[in-house]
Amino acid sequence: MDAKLNACMGAMKYLKDGMVLGLGTGSTVFHFINLVGEEMKKGKKFVCVATSFDTEMLAKKNGIPIVSLDQVSKIDLAVDGADIIGKEYVLKGGGGALAREKVVGYFADKFLVVVDEGKLKLKSYPVVVECLPFAYATVMKAMENLGAKPKLRSGGGKVGPVVSDNGNFILDCEMKITNAKKLEQDINAIPGVVENGIFTKFSKIIVGTESGSREL
Ligand code: A5P
Repeated sequence: MDAKLNACMGAMKYLKDGMVLGLGTGSTVFHFINLVGEEMKKGKKFVCVATSFDTEMLAKKNGIPIVSLDQVSKIDLAVDGADIIGKEYVLKGGGGALAREKVVGYFADKFLVVVDEGKLKLKSYPVVVECLPFAYATVMKAMENLGAKPKLRSGGGKVGPVVSDNGNFILDCEMKITNAKKLEQDINAIPGVVENGIFTKFSKIIVGTESGSREL
């Protein structure tokens, strides 16, 4: 079976009827959203906050009610993918949805990261930074001062810079990570930065393989 699907099957034991869910973004959590849809068809009830337009559309297709963050007082469980698993951190933002993903994941009582085991083998991935379009040049300079080689993300069905669901620009910053928690804070202290893709706060990582899943 598909390792991404297996990772999401591993997350299913944390799903309880009536929960408020935070739905991440990407090809791994895609399976979790479909599984939640199937549970709803069996009669379970969930209310969900989506971290991107893509996730919102997929959830609606599955008959999952989507509410905005200000309509819930808590999120019981958030489930999301990641691009690479580091030591006490994960990197996210490959799909450009990192800002809402961090808001939802960090706010949730439980935040599960679901990945296929290929993500454990990856050696490097850029730190993704979402910034105000107005400030992209100064943010790039500040990222260089932190030792990064930043690139403005562009292409993919549009000429010029990729614009996030929040109307911002995305920078892919190749850099070394030695102290993830500090770097996460240092990047967010740059004026014009909206959020970065270093995630240091999560409950569990569930790794899917071809035959099942395990928790880290
Ligand atoms: C979206 O911006 C990302 O953070 C995704 O959650 C991450 O890239 C994982 O995506 P896949 O599950 O598609 O690999």
